[in-house]
Amino acid sequence: MSDWMIEAVGITKRFPGLIANDRISFAVRPGEIHAIVGENGAGKSTLMKILAGLYEPDEGEIRLRGQPVRLRGPRHAAQLGIGMVHQHFMLIPRFTVTENVVLGSEPGSAARLDLVAARARVRELAQRYHLDIDPDAPVARLSVGQQQRVEILKVLYRGAEVLILDEPTAVLVPQEVEELFHHLRELRKQGKTVLFISHKLDEVLAIADRITVLRRGRVVGTLEAREATKPRLAEMMVGRPVLFDLEKPPAGDAAEGGPLLELADVTCREGTRTVLERVSLSVRPGEIYAIAGVEGNGQAELVQVITGLRVPDEGHIRLLGADATRWSVERRRAAGMAVIHEDRHRQALVLPMSIWENALLGRHRHRRWRRGPFFRPATIRSHVAREVARYDVRTPSLDVPVASLSGGNQQKLVLARELSQAPRIIVAAQPTRGLDVGAIEFVWGQLLEARARGLGVLLISADLEEILALADRIGVIARGRLVGELARSEATAEVLGRMMLAGGEAS
Ligand SMILES: Nc1ncnc2c1ncn2[C@@H]1O[C@H](COP(=O)(O)OP(=O)(O)OP(=O)(O)O)[C@@H](O)[C@H]1O
Ligand SMILES: [Mg+2]
Repeated sequence: MSDWMIEAVGITKRFPGLIANDRISFAVRPGEIHAIVGENGAGKSTLMKILAGLYEPDEGEIRLRGQPVRLRGPRHAAQLGIGMVHQHFMLIPRFTVTENVVLGSEPGSAARLDLVAARARVRELAQRYHLDIDPDAPVARLSVGQQQRVEILKVLYRGAEVLILDEPTAVLVPQEVEELFHHLRELRKQGKTVLFISHKLDEVLAIADRITVLRRGRVVGTLEAREATKPRLAEMMVGRPVLFDLEKPPAGDAAEGGPLLELADVTCREGTRTVLERVSLSVRPGEIYAIAGVEGNGQAELVQVITGLRVPDEGHIRLLGADATRWSVERRRAAGMAVIHEDRHRQALVLPMSIWENALLGRHRHRRWRRGPFFRPATIRSHVAREVARYDVRTPSLDVPVASLSGGNQQKLVLARELSQAPRIIVAAQPTRGLDVGAIEFVWGQLLEARARGLGVLLISADLEEILALADRIGVIARGRLVGELARSEATAEVLGRMMLAGGEAS
């Protein structure tokens, strides 16, 4: 009997122009929670996909309980007891929890599929692992955290002994993270082995037994979590010390000029529901105004009305002093508004298109890139190449589709595009979600620099640490209403947290 549940031995995986995994070896003990950390593009997801049978390695071996195995696909991996919980959920909203869990697990036997037995089994599994969930609920009605539990149930249903979770907490609010960790500990108690990826080092230190660090496709080392610290991990990841408390430069010249962006009594309805209710706020030059709140309390709608994707039912929006309530997205852009959208896959990038095309999106009509009706490819390419280098977007070339970039590198490309066009006001929704610590430090620095130059920044974030690091003023949103506004000096995580929750219950 081997000491290890699962091992990677000299795993190499190449993609055109790069080596995503370079002779990776590491081993996971049975019944441990093993975290994998590393910079954006370090090769974490690739490695996990190899262990889950989704990719075949070019070289190297996977061993399960000491025995070499050749995984012929995800189904084969599942038969051997390895299951992956994906970051982008693959659930069918109209189906119930049970239907989703069972779906695809009984190849070719749809006719014999016994939903009654399946339902009982799902209930039993949910109880055994304390994954509080109703087997009959349609998935469309579940919160993100509950949907994730369905994904976990799905792999448990298939008999997983090794569960792989790729950035499971990126989509969760703090309370849901706590619940997930509770579930992971429960799984560990019952002997399951968990592989877990996260960029949040505090989380990793809280939940993991051991931690393996990757950098540029290679293993830097494996540590016992109790011997690890945040600065040590960050330094192993990026190869240099990372500042966690960044120096905040003095604010820009706030006195000068009127507000750059103003909302006056903005109300939005969706059917009979009021999703934004009389929201008023203003962002002045040289300040970062942050919207704090539990996700799903109107932040998405707020970004939509501000950026022109939605017209408010009541109220006004002023941009640089002009009434912009009915302006198009393009007109707002032209007036100097840059937008970092939260959902980069749906709103910010065209995945099958190349890096250089995506870098131009939204400003491709600009004179600078054209001579008459023609593009000026050399000008465009050298410009994009500079931005890609400055923002450290890791890619083998400018011609690969954006879909092939790692998640964090996709986000960096959006930032490069939006911040490089000399905006007056930046609307940044969850700008650092999915980024590694080094990249977060860089983005925070960019936003502070913009502020110092007199730009206005509206930051919408679910991350209180981010809000406290950057904001000058903070508005707390709950159920579509601004329930309070504080100066940075009045705000602490506790105060904000209490307002976020109290505001939600009050109405
Ligand atoms: N299907 C693919 N085709 C081409 N290149 C790919 C593909 N998948 C990943 N890559 C490349 O392999 C490298 C490693 O990517 P991977 O997704 O494993 O990184 P990661 O560590 O998960 O990063 P992140 O933290 O940003 O999610 C990246 O440079 C990425 O662009
Ligand atoms: Mg990844």
